[in-house]
Amino acid sequence: MPTATPPQVSYAMDARDYNARVMQGFFKKIYPVIAEQILARTGVTTGLCVDLGGGPGMLGIEYARRTLAHVEICDPLPGCIEVAKENVGAAGLQSRVTARLGAAEALPYEDNSVGLVMSRGSIFFWADQAKGLAEVQRVLRPGGWAFIGGGMGNATLLAEINAARKDDPKWGEGRRKRMEANPPEHFEAIVHKLGLPAVVEDDEVGTWIVWQKR
Ligand SMILES: C[S@@+](CC[C@H](N)C(=O)[O-])C[C@H]1O[C@@H](n2cnc3c(N)ncnc32)[C@H](O)[C@@H]1O
Repeated sequence: MPTATPPQVSYAMDARDYNARVMQGFFKKIYPVIAEQILARTGVTTGLCVDLGGGPGMLGIEYARRTLAHVEICDPLPGCIEVAKENVGAAGLQSRVTARLGAAEALPYEDNSVGLVMSRGSIFFWADQAKGLAEVQRVLRPGGWAFIGGGMGNATLLAEINAARKDDPKWGEGRRKRMEANPPEHFEAIVHKLGLPAVVEDDEVGTWIVWQKR
């Protein structure tokens, strides 16, 4: 069910600025680490893997570098898709990494078709988190994995990022507010209501909802 028109989301960001300042800037080192963590946990090395809310796409790109999977970066913002394609080209991964418009609440994939949905730093901005997680479950194939949440990879990287951002008063504040609005119990209640076989893993570095579709 491909989407021809951009999905409606209230979220807005300057994809080019985010890519240069954040993704290729002070977050640069987290994507390889998180890709390794997802790979170690799920073992998914082939098939279709989706980086949902992937923005300019570096988590998906780092995942593709470590596997033989076809990775698709899926994001509702046309500007993110444009920059993601540039990043894929720069990485030389055009044959295995694609980018397409889509929002969590109406994923542009068939039922039971995806081996892994990874998503970092995005669920906090979804208009309807329960609908988005139900969509992830719908598109996963039996045995497929979801790894959805947010985090900085490990405590060392988190400390480095906090140090780099120490002069930005909005930095810690924005993250703190998002964490307060999305505590682990909040996600546990959603996955319980949906009947997902998920665990919610939370520590000072991040929060992740992880499950394998039965
Ligand atoms: C803070 S950025 C994170 C980008 C990237 N995943 C990363 O880790 O750097 C949040 C991303 O979530 C996307 N997003 C917002 N609402 C969404 C929705 N309803 N479904 C999917 N993605 C969404 C945004 O377009 C944006 O690219």
